[in-house]
Amino acid sequence: MFSPVKANSILRGLATAGILLGAILDVARADNPIIQTLYSTDPAPLVWNNTVWLFTGHDENGAKNYDMRDWRLYSSTDMVNWRDWGVMLSLKSFSWAKADAWAGQVVERGGKFYYYVTATKTSGGYAVGIATSDSVTGPYKDALGRHLLANGGIDPTVYIDDDGQAYMYWGHTSPGAYHVLLGKDMLSYTGALTSTSVQNFVEGPWLHKRNGTWYLTYSSMGGSNEDIKYATSTRATGPWTSRGQIMASQGKSFTNHAGIIDYKGGSYFFYHNGALPGGGTYSRSVCIEKFSYNADGSIPKLVMTDAGAPQIEALNPYQQVEAETIAFSSGLTTAAKSDSGIYVTSISNGDYIKVKGVDFGAGASSVDLRVAAASSGGKIELRVGGQSGAVIATCAVDTTGGAQTWKTISCPVSGATGKQDLFFKFSGSGYNFDWWQFKQAAAA
Ligand SMILES: *[C@@H]1O[C@H](CO)[C@@H](O)[C@H](O)[C@H]1NC(C)=O
Ligand SMILES: *[C@@H]1O[C@H](CO)[C@@H](O)[C@H](O)[C@H]1NC(C)=O
Repeated sequence: MFSPVKANSILRGLATAGILLGAILDVARADNPIIQTLYSTDPAPLVWNNTVWLFTGHDENGAKNYDMRDWRLYSSTDMVNWRDWGVMLSLKSFSWAKADAWAGQVVERGGKFYYYVTATKTSGGYAVGIATSDSVTGPYKDALGRHLLANGGIDPTVYIDDDGQAYMYWGHTSPGAYHVLLGKDMLSYTGALTSTSVQNFVEGPWLHKRNGTWYLTYSSMGGSNEDIKYATSTRATGPWTSRGQIMASQGKSFTNHAGIIDYKGGSYFFYHNGALPGGGTYSRSVCIEKFSYNADGSIPKLVMTDAGAPQIEALNPYQQVEAETIAFSSGLTTAAKSDSGIYVTSISNGDYIKVKGVDFGAGASSVDLRVAAASSGGKIELRVGGQSGAVIATCAVDTTGGAQTWKTISCPVSGATGKQDLFFKFSGSGYNFDWWQFKQAAAA
């Protein structure tokens, strides 16, 4: 089985042999793709409670075709450090679904969260389902016990207009995009399933409204791979005027899929590509670019970058930070505890986590790390500036008596002041990492 974890080990092996070192350094500098612990797809960002909640699909490691079984959630308040919330829904959440956990989107209405997804029915054919939760982080439960639409459909996208009317678009190639008006309960629809003419539409619609203009952004054929195009209208139901391409076909993935939000005064374009080691059509990864609308409301042409979006605000290291809050990582992955909390696991020698733009202020005196080690454990080096930057702390991780026997260890810190990129550099293996928190040095 091929996996990001193994791909990185292979790269490390080659680097030791003096090959591909440049490639590794590039990966280390990049903040795109924004998730490295698994292959992530079909980004659907939601701005709620001053936070970006990023719902994604997930390509299984080693897939030789589309192999997608669950949907996941990440969150950020700075657009670069993303916290992993784990699995929100899986095919097993829907008794009528058997395969193809394709694109989904969550919208909030009246404090309740509605998760629209695609799956293949046990009886065959694609369908749209809905799960609901009272919390953005779940648990989400199938709301209908059946699929929603009579004609199947994939890639649902939902937007609630200022007047309270919700619209859902979906669709897949011929005959193109469809839409319905959703009921106030968000679980039913009124009127006919209406097909919409949009230039070169293939799939993956994303509906949003800004400054009185409706935008329908979608995947289209842009060469040998999909590109992202968009159309605008003064009405949610069209007719749509084609506005051309936002992102050209680029990278190693056949598909692309857009999600667009405004957050803290900036506009952000989410998409996916095959840029992670081992990446490709069946092993995609979510990326972000920041953009500004042109004065006429049009969206500028965007290119895929390694740098990604700039950081909005510094991260405060003097609060408890989940270890699965990551700007970039290599090797390790994450898992869920029985209490559903997420932790960092599958740690092996040389793995690292980068946390970007950490503001140590006048300085830190010590750091607490929450760890669990079944056997020998290892060592966590904390560095600033880079993977081989200055060491500010070295923490030995001895056995805690079990892989789920959590213990807080404390180690002295020196040389951590001001705003720094923080790196956790791991040695040894067989231990797990739940959270970290620095203590401020006493004022001189
Ligand atoms: C909104 O975010 C704040 C700050 O993170 C948090 O304390 C609060 O519980 C959140 N509100 C809800 C309803 O989740
Ligand atoms: C909103 O649209 C109007 C024209 O309808 C334009 O004059 C104005 O500049 C736009 N505002 C923004 C923030 O783009």
